[in-house]
Amino acid sequence: MTGEARRALVTGAGQGIGAAIVRRLVADGCAVTAIDRDGAALDRLAEETGARPLLLDLTDQRAIAGALADAPAFAVVVNNAGIDQHAFFTDTTPEDWRRLLAINLEAVFAITHVTLPAMRAAGAGRIVMIASEAGRLGSRGGAVYAAAKAGVIGFARSIARENADRGITANVVAPGPVDTPLLRAAVNARGERLLHAMEAAPLMGRLGTPEEVAAAVGFLASEGAAFVTGEVLGVSGGMGCGA
Ligand SMILES: NC(=O)c1ccc[n+]([C@@H]2O[C@H](COP(=O)([O-])OP(=O)(O)OC[C@H]3O[C@@H](n4cnc5c(N)ncnc54)[C@H](O)[C@@H]3O)[C@@H](O)[C@H]2O)c1
Repeated sequence: MTGEARRALVTGAGQGIGAAIVRRLVADGCAVTAIDRDGAALDRLAEETGARPLLLDLTDQRAIAGALADAPAFAVVVNNAGIDQHAFFTDTTPEDWRRLLAINLEAVFAITHVTLPAMRAAGAGRIVMIASEAGRLGSRGGAVYAAAKAGVIGFARSIARENADRGITANVVAPGPVDTPLLRAAVNARGERLLHAMEAAPLMGRLGTPEEVAAAVGFLASEGAAFVTGEVLGVSGGMGCGA
């Protein structure tokens, strides 16, 4: 393909699934802007892939608007950044609710709010949200997380409905348990039983890899996915089968 590289934006790009998505999109020929709050991780990724690092705390909506308000249209926007929590609902606090929603849901609002107008003006775009099977199935020990991810699904489908006539697609990837620093931190905090439970949850009886999630994002971000919108694609070894 000749001409300018497609411009892509990926949040939570410093490690795990986000870093794999950056590698995938760079390999597919995109010029990627990579957002994270971890400057050292961003620098390593930039050196490895050529992605443009953008240091931002995604819970700071003003900072997001300030950094991206004048950016030219992105062809691809991937909302990946997120945090989880493993606690029964009765052990959670209003502060947990605010903390989890701020990054898992409100940051998705802020990124979409600032990038969608230019995409609409360009008359083309691919929006991909990384939710979770928890958002479709619920989660024992993850009610707040599941609520945020269910919100992402409803939001993405609404964006799909409002923007289909502008050549813009909005889709969701719903991973099951994926072997990333996020998952390993939870296992370190809660013990090996959590790892065994996570490995047992997918029909395939194993954890997913970040690259398997990135492959799905690569498809949804591609020109070939022009007729796919408002979908939730499980990448979970069949865990969401039938949802
Ligand atoms: N790993 C899994 O098992 C799993 C399963 C389902 C869904 N997901 C989702 O996939 C996404 C990525 O998860 P992961 O496992 O790669 O996580 P991770 O913790 O390994 O990586 C997340 C990245 O996001 C960044 N980040 C977090 N909060 C931020 C903030 N406020 N501002 C800027 N950057 C921030 C972190 O610095 C980190 O680099 C998340 O939305 C997560 O909910 C993960």
